[in-house]
Amino acid sequence: MERSGAEQRIDELTEQLNYHNYRYYVLDDPEISDEQFDAMLVELQELERRFPDLRRPDSPTQRVGAPPSDQFAPVEHTVPMLSLDKSFSGDELVEFDRRLKRQLGMDECEPIAYVCELKVDGLAVSLRYDHGVFVQGATRGDGRRGEDITPNLRTVRTIPLRLLDDPPPLIEVRGELYLPIAEFERINVERAEAGEPLFANPRNAAAGSMRQLDPAITASRRLDIFCYGTGAVEGLQFETHTQELERLRAFGCRVNPHVESVASIEQALAYCEQWTERRHDLEYGVDGVVVKADSVALQQAAGATSHGPRWATAYKFPAVEAETVVRDIEVTVARTGQLTPVAVMEPVFVDGSTVSRAVLHNEDEVARKDIRIGDHVVIRKAGDVIPEVVRSLPGKRTGDEEQFEMPRQCPVCGTEVVREEGAAATRCPNLNCPARRLSLLLHWAGRQAMDIDGLGEAVAAQLLDRGLVERPEDLYTLTTEEVVGLERMAEKSARNLIAAIEASKDRGLERLLFALGILHVGRTAAARLAEHYGSLRAIADASQEELEAVPDIGPKIAQSIVDYFARPENADLPERLAALGIVTTRPQQAEAEGTAFAGLTFVFTGGLEAMTRPEAEEMVAGLGGRATGSVSANTDYVVAGPGAGSKLERARELGVQVLGEEEFLQMVREAGEGSPGG
Ligand code: IVH
Repeated sequence: MERSGAEQRIDELTEQLNYHNYRYYVLDDPEISDEQFDAMLVELQELERRFPDLRRPDSPTQRVGAPPSDQFAPVEHTVPMLSLDKSFSGDELVEFDRRLKRQLGMDECEPIAYVCELKVDGLAVSLRYDHGVFVQGATRGDGRRGEDITPNLRTVRTIPLRLLDDPPPLIEVRGELYLPIAEFERINVERAEAGEPLFANPRNAAAGSMRQLDPAITASRRLDIFCYGTGAVEGLQFETHTQELERLRAFGCRVNPHVESVASIEQALAYCEQWTERRHDLEYGVDGVVVKADSVALQQAAGATSHGPRWATAYKFPAVEAETVVRDIEVTVARTGQLTPVAVMEPVFVDGSTVSRAVLHNEDEVARKDIRIGDHVVIRKAGDVIPEVVRSLPGKRTGDEEQFEMPRQCPVCGTEVVREEGAAATRCPNLNCPARRLSLLLHWAGRQAMDIDGLGEAVAAQLLDRGLVERPEDLYTLTTEEVVGLERMAEKSARNLIAAIEASKDRGLERLLFALGILHVGRTAAARLAEHYGSLRAIADASQEELEAVPDIGPKIAQSIVDYFARPENADLPERLAALGIVTTRPQQAEAEGTAFAGLTFVFTGGLEAMTRPEAEEMVAGLGGRATGSVSANTDYVVAGPGAGSKLERARELGVQVLGEEEFLQMVREAGEGSPGG
């Protein structure tokens, strides 16, 4: 690839990966599969390797949480390194406390004692000590599996290589590795002088320093650590988190001096408010406060979800504003044809990272905020949340600013755009617009739709460009040979892609309907329609009035569905899809296929590894069983994972059979084999 082509592709990949990271980590609502994400990341890493100076400061390859590269040996975390739920306001913090009390059956007025800690913005690491000797250090990775970075961690002077004061036979110390702000700035000055790309924020710089294959480079950067907890421990028990931290201090580990034990959530809130003001006085970046229930017994009773413990929350500091200049307003085209203006700004460092783009949603919003090209604007950002342009600063205008005008023609295909009366959105009406085709194909393959692993943007674009696919249904006639012909597509990946397409045929009516990408038809509408009509044909035949009679279906959705099936190319779509082997009806097999678990009640508790909680519950329901939230004498099985607490105890008290995740999956497999559909 030419340099200019590479530059453009690096830009695209960086933007997209950052967007999908945001969907995944912040919204918890990914649009693409992990494999699609990884494929894009690998492509970006490869381009950055070939053109190191084109790597953008906000490149996701620099981000913590990236999948472990094979440069470092993998380390399994026996006690997973979980994440934390977030609270974005005082009210949410108080609600967290209420929820916890409800879960524990406590009186609302009975205060819980908490420990408040600054949430230092770095990267989580786990340090393993065998009889007090530091033997292994690992990154968090995806929480279950990290990377072995022992030699690099040894260079961090505040990490004790040997613990003091009678250490236990085994202890994993967990903490946040970070780069002081002054050191971050020093490194960037050095990099600028050397013509190297700058780090976007201290966290990326810390992660980048740790991922050095040469520990000498790591050593030259003054990384530091604050320890905040433990993983696996043998031969030592704590009654409170305060005690745990004291013990860590005694072992010689560095614990943040601003940790405070408080008696109630009100006092925790006061701590959060105090640090919202004081956070900029620190010599390291903090993005919030971690509030943890102090009592270990209480922690165990509350347990954890697969995401994080129920007894702790991360209070996020409120948004910060910054000023920058709008260099351009670009227009992108979505799957529905909607044209979205995006402000391209002078990069500005705000609240922990560099911001250069912000979505302006539609023409009216640009007009309402009076944002012109060349304007000084105020942008707002909170942690990892997508930045927003708050307002323009007309007082700073020079007269050279340009008013934004929505293009009359689609910027991708040139078709004249339309703006429906009363609607804010402008759309490209051309169903064959390459931008629409591409985003429809990606939507179809998305995790919430047909969930086709390996069909990322790079592959989808090539399939369209080469005319191998025009509409999503064309995927189902692709051959391995055709796919092998694509750039960067090995035989094995091609076969995997074909298999993934094949596997997507029976995702069910609800997901198929969502995958079609009919304007206004989201997950909820698709679910209601699938449930009500039972087949795609019945939905296609329904009239506007009939559709409106379905719960949650309003006139706009109904109209959009009628319009969709009225288009000549969609008239026989249900039959064409069915002929390709795609399931277009709601499975009637519920009784025939799923009776193996009939009458059985399951409770899931603690973390799950191979599936999410809803997936597990769906499996149970699919086999005719029931999944409930609380353990009683009527419960047949409790499936317990890491972090399981009170429910597991209750199961043991009641003599309810307890299964591990693998045992549960084995049961499901056996049930599947025995059923007529299986
Ligand atoms: S406790 C299960 N304490 O925040 C407990 N985390 O969103 C989870 N972090 O991955 C961690 N300072 O990297 C904890 N005092 C602190 C922390 C802290 C920073 C980070 C850590 C973790 C993330 C969780």
